[in-house]
Amino acid sequence: MKKLIVGNWKMNLNVAEADHLLIALRKLLPSVPKQNIECVICPSCVYLQRAAEIMADQPVHIGGQDCAPFDNGAHTGDISARQLSALGCRYVILGHSERRAFYQESSALISEKATFAHDSGLTTIICVGETEDERTEGRQEEIVGRQIDESLSSGTSARNTVLAYEPVWAIGTGKTATPDDVAAMHSFIRKKLQEKLADGDEIRILYGGSVKPENAKDLFSVDNLDGFLVGGASLKADSFMGIAAAALE
Ligand code: PGA
Repeated sequence: MKKLIVGNWKMNLNVAEADHLLIALRKLLPSVPKQNIECVICPSCVYLQRAAEIMADQPVHIGGQDCAPFDNGAHTGDISARQLSALGCRYVILGHSERRAFYQESSALISEKATFAHDSGLTTIICVGETEDERTEGRQEEIVGRQIDESLSSGTSARNTVLAYEPVWAIGTGKTATPDDVAAMHSFIRKKLQEKLADGDEIRILYGGSVKPENAKDLFSVDNLDGFLVGGASLKADSFMGIAAAALE
């Protein structure tokens, strides 16, 4: 299976900085072997069109960071999956912990969004992960298991869905889960997906949380880890590409 490296730019960068990053990535992307690695960038939605233009002939996919649980119409501030798809997006991140925490997004809502995303031909990257307190209490599998049960929509398959395990305490904190912690959780997630879905062993499972070129190589050795969802380190072309390069070592 190809390794999947997804850059989540979040609400970062001004227009000039976004352009600068896109142009820098454009220079480095051709060196990534397409047969082994798939790269995706998820800029803020205001830069999606620009990203699609600059990356038109590049070996990289574009993704949204969220979409609406509606098809179209009177939903001020929302962006539909269909609009993302029309802009050239192939992927959409759903249920990121920042959306779960700041907008109280429930797993049920994420599953509704996923249905619209799949109907528009997008592949969803469904994020799950426990908080620090939940891990201290030893409840990480209970939490992640429930998020998986409730966030996956009925049409979920390996063709349209990627799972991203992102322990909340590791996001943007510089704390990374150890390869052993990641291995334990990814094996739990794999079993869960196998129980739930006919093609559950083919669903790609990403890890996210303070991934950098320096820790990517060790994490890549973990079983059932098919790539990364990268925040901070995706804002610099050389660190994002350094993570992709670690997959080849
Ligand atoms: P980080 O973010 O790499 O900055 O920890 C990961 C994410 O939020 O997807």
